[in-house]
Amino acid sequence: MQLEAIKTVPIKFEKFQSSKDDDCQERILAARAKLGKRLVILGHHYQHESVYRHADFTGDSLKLSRYTENLDAEFIVFLGVHFMAEVADILSRPEQIVILPDLAAGCSMADMANLAKVERSYRELSKVLDFDQTITPVTYINSAADLKAFCGEHGGIVCTSTNAPKILEWSFARREKVLFFPDQNLGRWSGYKMGIPLEQMPVWDPDQPLGGLTDEQIRNAKILLWKGHCAVHQMFRPQNIEHFKKLHPDGKVISHPEAPFEVCLNSDFVGSTEYILRTVTEAPPNTKWLVGTELNLVTRLAEQMKPQGKLVQFMSHVVCECSTMARIDPQHLAWTLENLVEGNIVNQIKVPKHEADLAKLTLDRMLAAS
Ligand code: 13P
Ligand code: SF4
Repeated sequence: MQLEAIKTVPIKFEKFQSSKDDDCQERILAARAKLGKRLVILGHHYQHESVYRHADFTGDSLKLSRYTENLDAEFIVFLGVHFMAEVADILSRPEQIVILPDLAAGCSMADMANLAKVERSYRELSKVLDFDQTITPVTYINSAADLKAFCGEHGGIVCTSTNAPKILEWSFARREKVLFFPDQNLGRWSGYKMGIPLEQMPVWDPDQPLGGLTDEQIRNAKILLWKGHCAVHQMFRPQNIEHFKKLHPDGKVISHPEAPFEVCLNSDFVGSTEYILRTVTEAPPNTKWLVGTELNLVTRLAEQMKPQGKLVQFMSHVVCECSTMARIDPQHLAWTLENLVEGNIVNQIKVPKHEADLAKLTLDRMLAAS
Protein backbone atom coordinates (compact mmCIF):
# COMPACT_ATOMS: atom_id res chain seq x y z
CA MET A 1 0.00 0.00 0.00
CA GLN A 2 2.75 2.36 1.01
CA LEU A 3 4.84 1.31 -1.97
CA GLU A 4 1.97 2.27 -4.32
CA ALA A 5 1.87 5.73 -2.79
CA ILE A 6 5.64 6.19 -3.22
CA LYS A 7 5.38 5.21 -6.91
CA THR A 8 2.99 8.06 -7.72
CA VAL A 9 5.39 10.75 -6.48
CA PRO A 10 6.97 12.18 -9.65
CA ILE A 11 10.70 11.72 -10.08
CA LYS A 12 12.34 15.12 -9.65
CA PHE A 13 14.10 16.71 -12.60
CA GLU A 14 17.13 17.49 -10.41
CA LYS A 15 18.02 13.79 -10.65
CA PHE A 16 18.57 14.22 -14.41
CA GLN A 17 20.03 17.71 -14.50
CA SER A 18 23.66 16.64 -14.34
CA SER A 19 23.24 13.38 -16.30
CA LYS A 20 25.47 13.00 -19.33
CA ASP A 21 23.79 13.14 -22.77
CA ASP A 22 24.87 9.56 -23.57
CA ASP A 23 23.32 8.20 -20.36
CA CYS A 24 20.11 10.04 -21.16
CA GLN A 25 20.05 8.57 -24.67
CA GLU A 26 20.09 5.06 -23.19
CA ARG A 27 17.44 5.93 -20.63
CA ILE A 28 15.19 7.42 -23.34
CA LEU A 29 15.48 4.26 -25.44
CA ALA A 30 14.78 2.04 -22.43
CA ALA A 31 11.72 4.06 -21.41
CA ARG A 32 10.43 4.09 -24.99
CA ALA A 33 10.73 0.32 -25.17
CA LYS A 34 8.63 -0.01 -22.00
CA LEU A 35 5.96 2.43 -23.17
CA GLY A 36 5.65 0.91 -26.66
CA LYS A 37 2.59 2.01 -28.63
CA ARG A 38 1.23 3.97 -25.67
CA LEU A 39 3.63 6.76 -26.64
CA VAL A 40 4.20 8.83 -29.74
CA ILE A 41 6.87 11.53 -30.05
CA LEU A 42 6.43 14.48 -32.42
CA GLY A 43 9.40 16.70 -33.32
CA HIS A 44 9.67 20.11 -34.94
CA HIS A 45 12.51 20.61 -37.43
CA TYR A 46 14.28 23.15 -35.17
CA GLN A 47 14.91 20.57 -32.47
CA HIS A 48 18.48 19.62 -31.70
CA GLU A 49 19.66 16.33 -33.18
CA SER A 50 20.06 14.82 -29.69
CA VAL A 51 16.28 14.75 -29.24
CA TYR A 52 15.04 15.05 -32.85
CA ARG A 53 16.38 11.53 -33.50
CA HIS A 54 13.72 10.16 -31.11
CA ALA A 55 10.75 11.67 -32.96
CA ASP A 56 8.32 9.23 -34.59
CA PHE A 57 7.06 12.03 -36.83
CA THR A 58 8.75 15.29 -37.75
CA GLY A 59 7.38 18.33 -39.55
CA ASP A 60 6.57 22.01 -39.74
CA SER A 61 3.67 23.43 -37.75
CA LEU A 62 1.03 22.49 -40.33
CA LYS A 63 2.24 18.93 -40.84
CA LEU A 64 2.51 18.32 -37.09
CA SER A 65 -1.00 19.72 -36.54
CA ARG A 66 -2.35 17.27 -39.08
CA TYR A 67 -0.57 14.36 -37.37
CA THR A 68 -2.09 15.17 -33.99
CA GLU A 69 -5.57 14.74 -35.42
CA ASN A 70 -4.94 11.10 -36.26
CA LEU A 71 -2.85 9.55 -33.50
CA ASP A 72 -3.91 6.59 -31.37
CA ALA A 73 -1.26 6.81 -28.64
CA GLU A 74 -2.22 7.54 -25.05
CA PHE A 75 0.72 9.97 -24.60
CA ILE A 76 1.90 12.55 -27.15
CA VAL A 77 5.28 13.99 -26.20
CA PHE A 78 5.97 17.17 -28.14
CA LEU A 79 9.53 18.15 -28.99
CA GLY A 80 8.85 21.76 -29.86
CA VAL A 81 7.51 24.88 -28.17
CA HIS A 82 4.49 25.67 -26.03
CA PHE A 83 2.02 26.82 -28.71
CA MET A 84 2.69 23.62 -30.70
CA ALA A 85 1.88 21.43 -27.70
CA GLU A 86 -1.31 23.47 -27.15
CA VAL A 87 -2.36 22.83 -30.75
CA ALA A 88 -1.66 19.11 -30.24
CA ASP A 89 -3.86 19.14 -27.13
CA ILE A 90 -6.68 20.98 -28.93
CA LEU A 91 -6.66 18.68 -31.97
CA SER A 92 -6.12 15.36 -30.20
CA ARG A 93 -8.85 13.37 -28.45
CA PRO A 94 -9.83 14.51 -24.92
CA GLU A 95 -8.42 11.38 -23.25
CA GLN A 96 -4.99 11.74 -24.90
CA ILE A 97 -2.26 13.41 -22.85
CA VAL A 98 0.09 15.95 -24.41
CA ILE A 99 3.42 16.60 -22.73
CA LEU A 100 6.03 19.32 -23.30
CA PRO A 101 9.30 18.11 -21.71
CA ASP A 102 10.29 21.62 -20.57
CA LEU A 103 7.56 24.15 -19.83
CA ALA A 104 10.05 26.99 -20.41
CA ALA A 105 10.08 26.13 -24.12
CA GLY A 106 7.99 29.08 -25.30
CA CYS A 107 8.17 31.24 -28.42
CA SER A 108 9.32 34.84 -27.99
CA MET A 109 7.42 35.90 -31.09
CA ALA A 110 4.18 34.35 -29.80
CA ASP A 111 4.68 36.35 -26.60
CA MET A 112 4.64 39.62 -28.59
CA ALA A 113 0.84 39.39 -28.71
CA ASN A 114 -1.42 38.62 -25.78
CA LEU A 115 -5.16 38.65 -25.18
CA ALA A 116 -5.18 41.99 -23.34
CA LYS A 117 -3.39 43.71 -26.24
CA VAL A 118 -5.51 42.03 -28.91
CA GLU A 119 -8.73 42.97 -27.09
CA ARG A 120 -7.50 46.54 -26.69
CA SER A 121 -6.72 46.64 -30.42
CA TYR A 122 -10.26 45.38 -31.09
CA ARG A 123 -11.66 48.27 -29.05
CA GLU A 124 -9.35 50.83 -30.68
CA LEU A 125 -10.21 49.66 -34.21
CA SER A 126 -13.91 49.65 -33.31
CA LYS A 127 -13.65 53.44 -32.83
CA VAL A 128 -13.00 53.76 -36.58
CA LEU A 129 -14.75 50.74 -38.14
CA ASP A 130 -17.27 48.04 -37.33
CA PHE A 131 -14.59 45.42 -36.54
CA ASP A 132 -16.77 42.33 -36.89
CA GLN A 133 -18.13 43.48 -40.24
CA THR A 134 -14.91 44.67 -41.84
CA ILE A 135 -11.88 42.97 -40.25
CA THR A 136 -10.92 39.29 -40.08
CA PRO A 137 -8.49 38.60 -37.23
CA VAL A 138 -5.83 36.18 -38.49
CA THR A 139 -3.42 34.70 -35.99
CA TYR A 140 -0.23 32.91 -36.95
CA ILE A 141 -0.18 29.47 -35.35
CA ASN A 142 2.75 30.85 -33.29
CA SER A 143 0.37 32.30 -30.71
CA ALA A 144 -1.25 31.29 -27.44
CA ALA A 145 -4.51 29.31 -27.46
CA ASP A 146 -6.51 32.25 -26.07
CA LEU A 147 -5.65 34.30 -29.18
CA LYS A 148 -6.85 31.46 -31.38
CA ALA A 149 -10.02 31.45 -29.27
CA PHE A 150 -10.38 35.22 -29.83
CA CYS A 151 -10.23 34.56 -33.58
CA GLY A 152 -12.82 31.81 -33.15
CA GLU A 153 -15.17 34.27 -31.44
CA HIS A 154 -14.70 37.00 -34.07
CA GLY A 155 -14.99 35.06 -37.35
CA GLY A 156 -11.20 34.75 -37.65
CA ILE A 157 -8.79 32.01 -38.54
CA VAL A 158 -5.31 30.59 -37.88
CA CYS A 159 -2.53 30.36 -40.48
CA THR A 160 0.89 28.74 -40.71
CA SER A 161 3.97 29.64 -42.74
CA THR A 162 2.77 27.16 -45.38
CA ASN A 163 -0.78 28.33 -45.92
CA ALA A 164 -0.73 32.08 -45.06
CA PRO A 165 -1.56 33.31 -48.62
CA LYS A 166 -4.45 30.82 -48.88
CA ILE A 167 -5.75 31.89 -45.48
CA LEU A 168 -5.59 35.56 -46.52
CA GLU A 169 -7.66 34.69 -49.61
CA TRP A 170 -10.17 32.95 -47.32
CA SER A 171 -10.29 36.08 -45.15
CA PHE A 172 -10.69 38.59 -47.98
CA ALA A 173 -13.53 36.51 -49.43
CA ARG A 174 -15.42 37.32 -46.21
CA ARG A 175 -14.33 40.79 -45.05
CA GLU A 176 -12.36 43.64 -46.63
CA LYS A 177 -9.49 43.86 -44.11
CA VAL A 178 -7.26 41.65 -41.96
CA LEU A 179 -5.64 42.22 -38.57
CA PHE A 180 -2.63 39.91 -38.76
CA PHE A 181 -0.73 38.94 -35.59
CA PRO A 182 1.85 38.47 -34.17
CA ASP A 183 4.38 38.26 -37.07
CA GLN A 184 4.52 41.31 -39.30
CA ASN A 185 7.08 39.67 -41.62
CA LEU A 186 4.91 36.68 -42.52
CA GLY A 187 1.89 38.97 -42.96
CA ARG A 188 3.77 41.43 -45.16
CA TRP A 189 5.37 38.77 -47.35
CA SER A 190 2.09 36.88 -47.82
CA GLY A 191 0.19 40.10 -48.62
CA TYR A 192 2.91 41.19 -51.06
CA LYS A 193 2.69 37.82 -52.85
CA MET A 194 -1.04 38.47 -53.28
CA GLY A 195 -0.28 41.84 -54.90
CA ILE A 196 -1.24 44.10 -51.98
CA PRO A 197 0.81 47.35 -52.06
CA LEU A 198 3.09 47.90 -49.06
CA GLU A 199 1.36 51.19 -48.19
CA GLN A 200 -1.87 49.24 -47.67
CA MET A 201 -0.13 47.08 -45.04
CA PRO A 202 0.78 49.51 -42.24
CA VAL A 203 2.29 48.32 -38.97
CA TRP A 204 -0.20 48.23 -36.09
CA ASP A 205 1.53 49.07 -32.81
CA PRO A 206 -0.72 47.67 -30.07
CA ASP A 207 0.87 49.93 -27.47
CA GLN A 208 -0.15 53.15 -29.25
CA PRO A 209 -3.61 54.74 -29.42
CA LEU A 210 -5.18 53.63 -32.74
CA GLY A 211 -2.10 51.47 -33.28
CA GLY A 212 -0.08 54.61 -34.04
CA LEU A 213 -2.11 55.16 -37.24
CA THR A 214 -4.54 57.80 -38.46
CA ASP A 215 -8.22 57.07 -39.19
CA GLU A 216 -7.41 57.42 -42.86
CA GLN A 217 -4.52 54.94 -42.74
CA ILE A 218 -6.80 52.44 -41.02
CA ARG A 219 -9.58 52.94 -43.58
CA ASN A 220 -7.11 52.54 -46.47
CA ALA A 221 -5.39 49.48 -45.03
CA LYS A 222 -5.92 45.97 -46.38
CA ILE A 223 -3.75 44.25 -43.78
CA LEU A 224 -2.88 45.73 -40.38
CA LEU A 225 0.44 44.12 -39.45
CA TRP A 226 0.98 43.57 -35.75
CA LYS A 227 4.27 44.98 -34.50
CA GLY A 228 5.89 41.60 -33.77
CA HIS A 229 8.69 39.49 -35.21
CA CYS A 230 10.90 36.48 -34.61
CA ALA A 231 14.21 37.48 -32.99
CA VAL A 232 15.94 34.51 -34.64
CA HIS A 233 14.92 35.31 -38.24
CA GLN A 234 15.29 39.05 -37.69
CA MET A 235 19.09 38.55 -37.71
CA PHE A 236 19.26 37.74 -41.43
CA ARG A 237 20.28 40.58 -43.76
CA PRO A 238 20.16 41.19 -47.54
CA GLN A 239 23.94 41.77 -47.29
CA ASN A 240 24.35 38.09 -46.30
CA ILE A 241 22.71 37.18 -49.61
CA GLU A 242 24.82 39.65 -51.61
CA HIS A 243 28.00 38.20 -50.11
CA PHE A 244 26.94 34.60 -50.90
CA LYS A 245 25.94 35.44 -54.48
CA LYS A 246 29.32 37.09 -55.09
CA LEU A 247 31.11 33.92 -53.97
CA HIS A 248 28.63 31.53 -55.62
CA PRO A 249 26.88 33.25 -58.56
CA ASP A 250 25.12 29.95 -59.42
CA GLY A 251 24.03 29.39 -55.78
CA LYS A 252 20.41 29.54 -54.63
CA VAL A 253 18.93 31.30 -51.62
CA ILE A 254 16.02 29.91 -49.62
CA SER A 255 14.41 31.63 -46.62
CA HIS A 256 11.62 31.24 -44.11
CA PRO A 257 8.86 33.90 -44.44
CA GLU A 258 9.56 35.06 -40.86
CA ALA A 259 12.75 36.63 -42.27
CA PRO A 260 12.68 40.41 -42.95
CA PHE A 261 10.91 41.52 -46.13
CA GLU A 262 14.14 42.52 -47.95
CA VAL A 263 15.60 39.07 -47.27
CA CYS A 264 12.53 37.32 -48.69
CA LEU A 265 12.57 39.69 -51.66
CA ASN A 266 16.17 38.74 -52.46
CA SER A 267 15.65 34.99 -51.95
CA ASP A 268 15.05 32.55 -54.80
CA PHE A 269 12.62 30.55 -52.68
CA VAL A 270 10.57 31.37 -49.57
CA GLY A 271 8.63 28.84 -47.52
CA SER A 272 8.08 26.85 -44.35
CA THR A 273 10.67 24.64 -42.68
CA GLU A 274 9.18 21.58 -44.40
CA TYR A 275 9.33 23.38 -47.78
CA ILE A 276 12.97 24.35 -47.19
CA LEU A 277 13.94 20.77 -46.36
CA ARG A 278 12.07 19.35 -49.35
CA THR A 279 13.41 21.91 -51.83
CA VAL A 280 17.06 21.46 -50.87
CA THR A 281 16.77 17.67 -50.53
CA GLU A 282 15.20 17.31 -53.99
CA ALA A 283 17.67 19.71 -55.67
CA PRO A 284 20.26 18.25 -58.08
CA PRO A 285 23.60 17.06 -56.64
CA ASN A 286 26.46 19.58 -56.30
CA THR A 287 24.15 22.59 -55.98
CA LYS A 288 24.88 25.39 -53.50
CA TRP A 289 22.39 26.79 -51.01
CA LEU A 290 22.20 29.70 -48.60
CA VAL A 291 19.49 28.99 -46.03
CA GLY A 292 17.74 31.65 -43.93
CA THR A 293 16.18 29.79 -41.04
CA GLU A 294 17.09 28.39 -37.61
CA LEU A 295 20.56 26.94 -37.09
CA ASN A 296 19.71 23.38 -35.96
CA LEU A 297 17.71 22.73 -39.13
CA VAL A 298 20.46 24.11 -41.37
CA THR A 299 23.25 22.20 -39.58
CA ARG A 300 21.39 18.90 -39.92
CA LEU A 301 20.49 19.56 -43.56
CA ALA A 302 24.11 20.48 -44.41
CA GLU A 303 25.31 17.14 -42.97
CA GLN A 304 22.62 15.16 -44.80
CA MET A 305 23.41 16.82 -48.14
CA LYS A 306 27.20 16.36 -47.99
CA PRO A 307 27.21 12.92 -49.69
CA GLN A 308 25.43 14.48 -52.69
CA GLY A 309 28.08 17.18 -52.93
CA LYS A 310 25.59 19.93 -52.01
CA LEU A 311 26.86 22.95 -50.13
CA VAL A 312 24.33 24.13 -47.55
CA GLN A 313 25.33 27.32 -45.79
CA PHE A 314 23.70 29.15 -42.90
CA MET A 315 22.65 32.72 -43.77
CA SER A 316 24.17 34.61 -40.86
CA HIS A 317 27.65 34.93 -39.36
CA VAL A 318 26.09 35.14 -35.90
CA VAL A 319 24.55 32.12 -34.20
CA CYS A 320 20.76 32.18 -34.74
CA GLU A 321 19.57 29.27 -32.65
CA CYS A 322 16.07 29.35 -31.23
CA SER A 323 16.95 29.31 -27.53
CA THR A 324 13.48 28.25 -26.45
CA MET A 325 13.35 25.30 -28.87
CA ALA A 326 16.73 24.32 -27.40
CA ARG A 327 15.17 23.97 -23.93
CA ILE A 328 14.08 20.47 -24.95
CA ASP A 329 17.18 18.40 -24.28
CA PRO A 330 17.89 14.69 -23.62
CA GLN A 331 17.74 15.33 -19.86
CA HIS A 332 14.17 16.67 -19.99
CA LEU A 333 13.05 13.99 -22.44
CA ALA A 334 14.50 11.18 -20.31
CA TRP A 335 12.92 12.68 -17.17
CA THR A 336 9.49 12.94 -18.84
CA LEU A 337 9.54 9.41 -20.21
CA GLU A 338 10.79 7.75 -17.04
CA ASN A 339 7.99 9.45 -15.17
CA LEU A 340 5.48 8.04 -17.65
CA VAL A 341 6.93 4.57 -17.13
CA GLU A 342 6.40 5.06 -13.37
CA GLY A 343 2.83 6.20 -13.98
CA ASN A 344 3.49 9.90 -13.35
CA ILE A 345 2.45 12.59 -15.78
CA VAL A 346 4.71 15.62 -15.67
CA ASN A 347 4.43 18.81 -17.77
CA GLN A 348 1.04 18.06 -19.27
CA ILE A 349 -0.31 20.80 -21.55
CA LYS A 350 -4.06 21.18 -21.13
CA VAL A 351 -5.96 24.06 -22.69
CA PRO A 352 -9.16 24.97 -20.74
CA LYS A 353 -12.23 23.50 -22.50
CA HIS A 354 -14.03 26.74 -23.41
CA GLU A 355 -10.82 28.19 -24.90
CA ALA A 356 -9.97 24.91 -26.62
CA ASP A 357 -13.41 24.67 -28.28
CA LEU A 358 -13.14 28.18 -29.76
CA ALA A 359 -9.52 27.65 -30.78
CA LYS A 360 -10.45 24.35 -32.43
CA LEU A 361 -13.01 26.17 -34.52
CA THR A 362 -10.27 28.35 -36.04
CA LEU A 363 -7.86 25.45 -36.49
CA ASP A 364 -10.59 23.43 -38.22
CA ARG A 365 -11.31 26.43 -40.48
CA MET A 366 -7.61 26.56 -41.32
CA LEU A 367 -7.29 22.83 -42.01
CA ALA A 368 -10.38 22.93 -44.25
CA ALA A 369 -9.15 26.03 -46.12
CA SER A 370 -5.65 24.65 -46.70
P1 13P B 1 7.22 26.23 -39.56
O1 13P B 1 5.74 26.04 -39.43
O2 13P B 1 7.61 26.66 -40.95
O3 13P B 1 7.95 25.01 -39.13
O4 13P B 1 7.65 27.45 -38.65
C1 13P B 1 7.51 27.43 -37.26
C2 13P B 1 8.39 28.39 -36.62
O5 13P B 1 8.31 28.65 -35.45
C3 13P B 1 9.39 29.06 -37.43
O6 13P B 1 10.13 29.93 -36.65
FE1 SF4 C 1 9.30 31.32 -32.12
FE2 SF4 C 1 11.20 32.32 -33.70
FE3 SF4 C 1 11.71 30.20 -32.16
FE4 SF4 C 1 10.10 29.98 -34.31
S1 SF4 C 1 12.28 30.44 -34.29
S2 SF4 C 1 9.72 29.13 -32.27
S3 SF4 C 1 9.07 31.99 -34.24
S4 SF4 C 1 11.19 32.27 -31.45
